[in-house]
Amino acid sequence: MSSGTEKRVITLDDIRNHPFVTACIQRANDNLGVLGYTEHSFRHTGTVARTAYRIMSEMGYTEREAELAAIAGYLHDIGNVVERSHHYYSGALIAMSVLRELGMENEEITTIAAAIGNHDEKNGHPVSNVSAAVILADKADVHRTRVRNRDFARFDIHDRVNYAVEESALELDPGERTVTLRLKIDTQISRVMEYFEIFLIRMILCRRAADFLSARFALVINEVQLL
Ligand SMILES: [Fe+2]
Ligand SMILES: [Fe+2]
Repeated sequence: MSSGTEKRVITLDDIRNHPFVTACIQRANDNLGVLGYTEHSFRHTGTVARTAYRIMSEMGYTEREAELAAIAGYLHDIGNVVERSHHYYSGALIAMSVLRELGMENEEITTIAAAIGNHDEKNGHPVSNVSAAVILADKADVHRTRVRNRDFARFDIHDRVNYAVEESALELDPGERTVTLRLKIDTQISRVMEYFEIFLIRMILCRRAADFLSARFALVINEVQLL
């Protein structure tokens, strides 16, 4: 019998409880820790899953699309288990093998693989509603708690900018069709200019992702609308 004939409806809980997925995310986060990157563990994957779900459901998409966005969000950084620079690509392949083994519908597997493969700001493009939701959810997760370096004197620009973000919220207005990233930045730690220095390319991708959802992306920092 060919593989994948027994199809099942796969939920985020199936993925969360998958021992191989758990091992990969754990190792991916450890690898990035060695390289000096911010936190990419279950806090990040869980946050991206929740936010991607919220974007889909609040902006009027189907319950199943919201669940697929949550699954893609949970898995989006899994490729860091292999290495960092092409993690979107390896992550898509790892996700495909896990989801095939679980018996997910082919349509859904390809949707999730494309969303993971396109989440990176350097090479990614919003290619579906699910992909757009994952991009927005991932780029919105900038926060002090993600900084692992405890030595302030050795903070690099990424540590400084993330550490400076005291509050971050992604606000959705389905009526006005706007997606607003609202940040509160401690400018004693990092100037707003520094935020743009490293996040401009991410914000451009967010704008394109919002466009895909027929919405407008707005960025508000310290109550000032910048985009
Ligand atoms: Fe990533
Ligand atoms: Fe991420």
